[in-house]
Amino acid sequence: MLFLSILGLVAVWYLYRWYKESERVSDKGNKYVYITGCDSGFGNTLAKYLDKLGFRVIAGCYTENGEIALKKVSSERLTTVSLDVTKSDSVKKVADFIKTHVGEKGLWAVVNNAGVATPSGPTDWLTIDDYKSMLAVNLMGVIDVTLSVLPLIKKARGRVVNVASVFGRISPFGGPYCVSKYGVESFNDSLRLNMAPFGVKVLCIEPGFFKTSVTDTVMLQNHLRKLWDRLSQDMKDDYGQAFLETTLQELDQRFQQFRDGDLMKVVHCMEHAIAAVYPRSRYSPGWDAKFLWLPMSYMPTWIADRFFLQYSPKPKISVL
Ligand SMILES: NC(=O)c1ccc[n+]([C@@H]2O[C@H](COP(=O)([O-])OP(=O)(O)OC[C@H]3O[C@@H](n4cnc5c(N)ncnc54)[C@H](OP(=O)(O)O)[C@@H]3O)[C@@H](O)[C@H]2O)c1
Repeated sequence: MLFLSILGLVAVWYLYRWYKESERVSDKGNKYVYITGCDSGFGNTLAKYLDKLGFRVIAGCYTENGEIALKKVSSERLTTVSLDVTKSDSVKKVADFIKTHVGEKGLWAVVNNAGVATPSGPTDWLTIDDYKSMLAVNLMGVIDVTLSVLPLIKKARGRVVNVASVFGRISPFGGPYCVSKYGVESFNDSLRLNMAPFGVKVLCIEPGFFKTSVTDTVMLQNHLRKLWDRLSQDMKDDYGQAFLETTLQELDQRFQQFRDGDLMKVVHCMEHAIAAVYPRSRYSPGWDAKFLWLPMSYMPTWIADRFFLQYSPKPKISVL
């Protein structure tokens, strides 16, 4: 009896949550949404989806081809702009355009989506410039773009949607990717508190592995080989050729295992963050995010470390 009552209460709570979360904002045709990194992947899919839903999309594209391709499949409501988030001039130019484009309405949402996944590899294979180049896109780009349009978002009492990653919650491999995404999480959390008094909502998307260019195994393997080639002979001797071969092989196997081809799982979360009357603070699309990476992030450090070390290739001179 007690068990049934608890089950009933849980069911009622889920029903209430589902009902509350299904409500969407009105007047989409007058709401402007600025998305970065719309050439491919989540950004491209989101731009087309929001356009179909009736929002006024301002799609930041890194390449001219990206702009042309997106325009071809969108309505006249969607505007493309050329954007390199690592260049403040480019970010400012787009912000100035948006200011004149949206007028008194302000900007309803910015989606900080642009990102890169290379160079990635063991930390001691990398240089400070490798770190700087990725942080310039994944972290400084997010901050620069946000600050450039924040006054317009405050005017609309709108939203900032930051695309982080489960690797902003746990760090199972070396290199700047996790560093950059932890930074996005931190920026997101402090901004959420700072903007609350202005009626601006700040939402974070933390996807697991999805099939896009950032998880392209051939591209990642080629980058890893390039990093290996530039190592000193001493470093190569410490790691051993077998380390490289196993890492390349496992990279392929693990990514095949985890990569989800359904990008709409992420795009639906982004749409909810932008359009729901009551959005969630965090979204974790992907089964691997929900059942592996996030639970692992709550484990004591020694358990998580033992798990990751057990499944990682070891350097030739490893003491483990
Ligand atoms: N796929 C996943 O499994 C996964 C998981 C967690 C988080 N994420 C995050 O999701 C976001 C979107 O990635 P995605 O998976 O959709 O990969 P994607 O298809 O490579 O999308 C990234 C986009 O960012 C653009 N971009 C790269 N450098 C830029 C720059 N300097 N300025 C402006 N735009 C730039 C890329 O343009 P080009 O295509 O022209 O290079 C591309 O359109 C990223 O922040 C990524 O870290 C992805």
